[in-house]
Amino acid sequence: MDSKHNSYGDANNLWNNFLDCQLASLGKSNLYRQLRIVNSQGATAIVNGKRVLHLCSNDYLGLSENAQVRRQAAKSLSSLHISGCSSRLVAGNHPKIVELESQLACHRGTEDSLVYPTGYTANLGVISAIADKESVIYSDELNHASIIDACRLSGANVRIFAHNNVDILRQMLDESPRSQKKIVITEGIFSMDGDVAPLKQLCKVAREHGALVVVDDAHGDFVFGAKDGRLLFSGTPASLCVNDLVDIHISSMSKGLGCFGGYVATSTKMRDLLVNKSRQFIYTSALPEHLCAAALVALKMAKKGSLQDKLFRNIRMISSKLRELGFCVGAPCSQIIPVIIGDEKLAMKFSEQLLKEGVFAQAIRYPTVKLGAARLRITITAMHATDQIEYAIGAFEEAGKRCGLLGCRVR
Ligand SMILES: Cc1ncc(COP(=O)(O)O)c(C=O)c1O
Repeated sequence: MDSKHNSYGDANNLWNNFLDCQLASLGKSNLYRQLRIVNSQGATAIVNGKRVLHLCSNDYLGLSENAQVRRQAAKSLSSLHISGCSSRLVAGNHPKIVELESQLACHRGTEDSLVYPTGYTANLGVISAIADKESVIYSDELNHASIIDACRLSGANVRIFAHNNVDILRQMLDESPRSQKKIVITEGIFSMDGDVAPLKQLCKVAREHGALVVVDDAHGDFVFGAKDGRLLFSGTPASLCVNDLVDIHISSMSKGLGCFGGYVATSTKMRDLLVNKSRQFIYTSALPEHLCAAALVALKMAKKGSLQDKLFRNIRMISSKLRELGFCVGAPCSQIIPVIIGDEKLAMKFSEQLLKEGVFAQAIRYPTVKLGAARLRITITAMHATDQIEYAIGAFEEAGKRCGLLGCRVR
């Protein structure tokens, strides 16, 4: 028998037909996705065997390639285990993860923190542990898929409020009895639009209604924060002076920190509940020691604050130049700069044309964003040099003309 023979062979036409129909329908609506090999190297990447400028990395500060971070990870790997091969509550609670949690809590300005295998599982683990069918969750319409999945998993009554619209949120909260358990959940920096949640107003309204505030700050963490030369406290809530009004901070270490894993920063009591009730924490293996060791070094580098200064200079430069060209990129709120195209096919064409011009910027389509809101989600990092940004602008101009995007309003 052919070892590559698939199990949906002729004997199971039902499944074969299902797969064919699903894939054909994705193709027809320009939503078919394919993996490609990307070998990231600093501000560039090898894509399809060609070196191009990398404009869609989440390694915002370049810490994943930092020599000290890599050295520490390698050192840990040579002396520690590759994996503890156990969950935290059995035998996986190694010293490095405990040290990392203590540092993350300091970094975020909270009493405590709890590490999860990823940011995705942190969202699932927190929301499904604290919300149930007696609760109502108020969730921003542009919240990340992991928040949407977490809300569904919890069984809570979920109410979606218009993006960043605190008035609508207030109206919704007004409708629910004071005695009901309520949670307001938003992102700090939105992953596909790069804009900032109005956390000050949102926290105020939530407080007035006795609702718990949860902020997923996967993209604001380590980039934004309260700064005084160094990064004193990390995150969007700290940068907007509302750290104390956020009950649960959820984040990822695989973006601004350039490492891997997720975490929750919160009170000691909330952490205690999560350790006891959060299934995505209990029934999975602990984050390995070398990843925690790397994150500890990366955290020290992020705290210095100089990488963020460079990043913000780059943000200002690329967004103003793209706007001058005629692309509407909004105000330069963050390192995530969406170039909205609308049509899915055109967004793919633009992305492919840019690749030909030597710039890698993935097209983002439904269901990651709404249908008809396809875009190129550009991210700039502290690793990009001025001449690389200038090169990118030239490529955008050329590709924009070739795709008929320039000369007309893009957004
Ligand atoms: C807002 C947001 N939350 C959570 C996650 C998941 O983080 P991780 O990659 O650590 O699973 C992402 C990842 O893209 C994200 O954008």
